[in-house]
Amino acid sequence: MCGIVGYIGREEAVGIIVEGLRKLEYRGYDSAGVSIIKDGKTDIRRAVGKLANLDKALRDKPIFGNTGIGHTRWATHGRPSEQNAHPHEVDGVSIVHNGILENYMELKHRLQAQGRKFKSETDTEIMSHLVASHIAEGRNLIEAVRASLKEIRGAFAFLIQHEKEPNKIVTAKTASPMVVGVGKGEMFVASDIPALLGHTRDFIILEDGQMAVLTADGVELSDFDGNALPVKTKHVDWSPVMAEKAGHKHFMHKEIHEQPTAIADTIRGRVLMEDASVHLDGVNLGDVKKLRRLIITACGTSFHAGMVGKFMIEKLARLGVDCDLASEFRYRDPVLDEETGVLAISQSGETADTLAAIKLAKSQGATVFAVCNVLESSIARECATSGGVMYTHAGPEIGVASTKAFTTQLVALYLLAIYLGRARGVLDKGAAQKCLEDLREIPSKIERVLATEASIIAIARRYAQARDFLFLGRGPNFPIALEGALKLKEISYIHAEGYSAGEMKHGPIALIDDKMPVVGIATEGPVYDKTVANLEEVRARNGKLIILATEGDSKIAAIADDVIVVPRTDPLLDPIITTIPLQLLAYHIADINGTDVDQPRNLAKSVTVE
Ligand code: G6P
Repeated sequence: MCGIVGYIGREEAVGIIVEGLRKLEYRGYDSAGVSIIKDGKTDIRRAVGKLANLDKALRDKPIFGNTGIGHTRWATHGRPSEQNAHPHEVDGVSIVHNGILENYMELKHRLQAQGRKFKSETDTEIMSHLVASHIAEGRNLIEAVRASLKEIRGAFAFLIQHEKEPNKIVTAKTASPMVVGVGKGEMFVASDIPALLGHTRDFIILEDGQMAVLTADGVELSDFDGNALPVKTKHVDWSPVMAEKAGHKHFMHKEIHEQPTAIADTIRGRVLMEDASVHLDGVNLGDVKKLRRLIITACGTSFHAGMVGKFMIEKLARLGVDCDLASEFRYRDPVLDEETGVLAISQSGETADTLAAIKLAKSQGATVFAVCNVLESSIARECATSGGVMYTHAGPEIGVASTKAFTTQLVALYLLAIYLGRARGVLDKGAAQKCLEDLREIPSKIERVLATEASIIAIARRYAQARDFLFLGRGPNFPIALEGALKLKEISYIHAEGYSAGEMKHGPIALIDDKMPVVGIATEGPVYDKTVANLEEVRARNGKLIILATEGDSKIAAIADDVIVVPRTDPLLDPIITTIPLQLLAYHIADINGTDVDQPRNLAKSVTVE
């Protein structure tokens, strides 16, 4: 998830580009760069770290010109370094890219065999070489881009310029966002609208499979084959505060809605359907048949992801899993050896307790690997010298309450479970294919849940004044009950407890009366009947029941005060779906009560103290 800005017109481009990148820094901030064309020559400045470092590089050695492209990076392929920073220039062709090219290895080998030399470890530089090679064959820039687009697979939004055709910028996109800002005698282009609101309110939102050619005086839109498309301009009337959050009231709300895309990004490039295989670049667990046990360690929401991961890995890979809170792990003298794998889960990669647990496990000979969202974070670096890192690719998460980081962790764990199941000979091709097919449907199923938000707002209104909540679930949805309660208490300050539905009779049942809302997760699956029986016990004591049920469940309405319907999926994937309405419920209750949703009191996004 990187940020992109381009400008073509009569003004100096660099100031406009850097100002736009500053508004996009939330999309990534490990390095940045700009490429400007002047008098038929390309000039590039790049710097590692936040934009302030690029500012300094530009102050030390300014560049001038009226056409340029810029980028702020959130690394996916290649560590953050100046060489890996965009733009990537080859023979006068400069490119900035947001996304992941899936077939970059095979293309890189082909281009290297043709004698092409690579300066970076990025997948993006492939595209620069492809376009340059087609120009060398005699094509113009537009034709060269079209020919290159036919050769790549994956997610991308590109800006491309060539010093021999300085009067145009070409952009093309699939799966990653890009918008063109329409000016008078100048054109702008960026990853999102807020980056350009200081210059224009008229935008062309590019669709997947579209390519646009920008000149100072206009835009031509086409598909990748060159068929012209009509240009539709949209006028946007956002306040500056709304703009930063892309029209959402809070980052948390925006991030809840980003989950279908974030999950697709986690899956992308890791699955080969033909042989039902999962590829975990960057993870090396040695001979996984020799693993006898896996310990998952994490804190907070990431710990809840680990608890769901236990169900996935035990079922699909028949490997015993223990879940340990990282803050407890090293105070217990854990039993570790070379046949024990340790998996740390962390959004930020900086949580001190998780880091300490990793160091202890490493010192005792265990293979330690991580599921993490932040490249080159402390946890990622610590695991790089052991079992490696699987990145979730969720993009920066700004709301303190974790949402898209959590669901992408669940997806990463499901992929890991299939990978282990295949490698340990537990999961045959057909079974793995079914798992992968179910997984691929998750983003669209989440879209369907998000579309029911209005009914969840209505429920939030009815219960926003309650003082306590109980969340109940069983099986893989027990951790989701814990997570639902955590979301509610951290952002609304309402007391909430998550409990295993089967354990309710051993204590919490004493709390139930007609003032106590109970959220029950009773979706289809092996524990459905048992869960419904537990919810009946709540009903019998006049508790208010809000029940999450699978679509088509005709029985549940009889016992529920409110029903939230979710699409049907495999029981192991169900937690990814059931967590969405609980995020929305917590969010809307907090919003109705007027709390500081994105920065709740006393909490921090990454906790670097033990
Ligand atoms: C803090 C955050 C939580 C997060 C936990 C673990 O408490 O507020 O949202 O789940 O830390 O953080 P990590 O970055 O390791 O996942």
